[in-house]
Amino acid sequence: MTQPKRIAVTGAAGQICYSLLFRIANGDVYGKDTPVILQLLDLPQAQKAVQGVVMELEDCAFPLLQDVVITDDPATAFRDIDAGFFVGSRPRTAGMERRDLLNANAEIFRTQGRALDEAAKRDAKVIVVGNPANTNAMILAANAKGFPTENVTAMLRLDHNRALTQFAKKAGVGVDAIEKFVVWGNHSPTMFADWSNATADGRKLAEVIGDEAWYKETLIPTVAKRGTAIIEARGASSAASAANAAIDHMRDWISGSNGDWVSMGISSDGSYGIPEGLMCGVPVTCANGRYERVTGLTVEGFAREMLDKTVGELAEEREAVKALL
Ligand code: NAD
Ligand code: LMR
Repeated sequence: MTQPKRIAVTGAAGQICYSLLFRIANGDVYGKDTPVILQLLDLPQAQKAVQGVVMELEDCAFPLLQDVVITDDPATAFRDIDAGFFVGSRPRTAGMERRDLLNANAEIFRTQGRALDEAAKRDAKVIVVGNPANTNAMILAANAKGFPTENVTAMLRLDHNRALTQFAKKAGVGVDAIEKFVVWGNHSPTMFADWSNATADGRKLAEVIGDEAWYKETLIPTVAKRGTAIIEARGASSAASAANAAIDHMRDWISGSNGDWVSMGISSDGSYGIPEGLMCGVPVTCANGRYERVTGLTVEGFAREMLDKTVGELAEEREAVKALL
């Protein structure tokens, strides 16, 4: 058995965490040999509900779950953490876009950025799930001035996984057969699900599917509007699939992506014409506890237009919250 990992999870009484916490405690992030200590943050009025969730965690008798801390103080939650899942924030409801949450949620990430800086290990890995995830991650990183910005990421993995299943169904292959696929940009309807480099069992995915109109007119909008479709059908935003995507994102970052590309929102270094500092979905590979941006891709024509549009939206969001940066 290795040393336990301390994992902060915010919004612990919420829907996503009702799935996420049990997966983490089961060893789905750090593996079956690594004990975990959960440090759960939620608002004062949600503390009783968190206690209920913790009773259920106890009742699962997870062998890897060594301890659970419950708190409404961000610095206590982030003390000495190895990883942080930033889920806590308001979800949208029918008729809203994710950017409508900007004002409601931005302040949370400013406060928590300062606490992260005060309390967390410098090599802690952070994922922001709370919407609008990209811009919240940028606010978090900007307010954690002594904390490495490259350790703060935003979740695009749900969009990535959504697209994989749609492609696999259309191509008649398993989801594992598809490689070198990426979702660029913002976790919003402007996101760009890009099949330019994707393969299915080593063959070009676009040729296997052979239907560009389906790609442009069905696949891209289906993935972009999937969150809305789920809210309309369920009456609440996606939860178990969002938790699963957060697990996939962190597990791959920690243990590697086996050479394949995954989509992660990371702070832009200016490549691909994405202005520096925007927290933007790009293709990365993960190995040895690090992610690396995939470089040298050609982005032109339709892909360039799509990337410019989603990056433009991220730049507008940055402008809207510049007072918090
Ligand atoms: P929820 O309303 O069920 O739970 C949110 C929890 O956060 C609540 O328990 C609430 O008390 C808590 N919270 C609010 N402010 C807090 C603060 N300052 N500190 C700590 N906790 C706080 O919502 P949910 O369905 O779990 O969704 C959470 C967020 O995740 C929403 O913003 C939602 O839009 C987002 N989301 C993102 C993705 C993605 O792909 N990035 C996918 C699904 C949902
Ligand atoms: C999703 O994509 O399901 C989440 O971001 C929730 C939402 O508001 O769409």
